[in-house]
Amino acid sequence: MGDELPVLTGTLVRLRSWRADDAPAIHAACQDPDIQRWTTVPVPYGPADAEDFLSRRVPEARARGGAAFAVEDLADRSLAGSAALLQLVAGVGEIGYWVAPSARRRGLGADALATLSSWAFAHAGAHRLELLIEPGNHASRALAARAGFVAEGLLRDRLVVRGERRDALLHALVAP
Ligand SMILES: CC(C)(COP(=O)(O)OP(=O)(O)OC[C@H]1O[C@@H](n2cnc3c(N)ncnc32)[C@H](O)[C@@H]1OP(=O)(O)O)[C@@H](O)C(=O)NCCC(=O)NCCS
Repeated sequence: MGDELPVLTGTLVRLRSWRADDAPAIHAACQDPDIQRWTTVPVPYGPADAEDFLSRRVPEARARGGAAFAVEDLADRSLAGSAALLQLVAGVGEIGYWVAPSARRRGLGADALATLSSWAFAHAGAHRLELLIEPGNHASRALAARAGFVAEGLLRDRLVVRGERRDALLHALVAP
């Protein structure tokens, strides 16, 4: 894959490359307690963390064979969230996502995950995609199920979130 990511159009969202001018919207979204609780973002989350995400985390995903996309609401083109193929090793990819609080419960997260998964299977060389979701994260578990991911089991101490070991449910989708 080259450096430019394609634009991926779903039913409700559009996935595109991140831009430098997304930093304020990333910073605003990452003040949300649920994003801070369930993802590995720094807490507290300052403006420099959004800059760091764009300059370091996004290229890092690329270097690991993945691709980090900004998620836009197709209705008004506002930044609705983040959907990233965090890494891809031997055809097995790991995905992570968040949706801004104001964009939730409208199906955007599920559409973003389904759109990214279809692209990863068809164009990025993935044959299996995994999500690591903490058992208490009911919203993410419901989203995973909606996008067709199947819960395969509990992985003990699989995640380290801000220095704390946490269990994760492994959800996976295999290529059609
Ligand atoms: C998880 C998250 C991405 C869901 O995004 P979303 O756009 O609101 O999800 P959708 O609207 O696409 O909903 C998908 C499914 O999840 C369900 N869902 C969404 N939020 C829910 C909640 N808080 N409680 C229970 N179910 C929920 C929806 O009802 C829907 O289920 P259905 O198809 O059975 O109706 C969002 O809540 C979020 O960003 N959370 C914080 C970050 C996070 O947890 N990231 C994932 C780490 S593993």
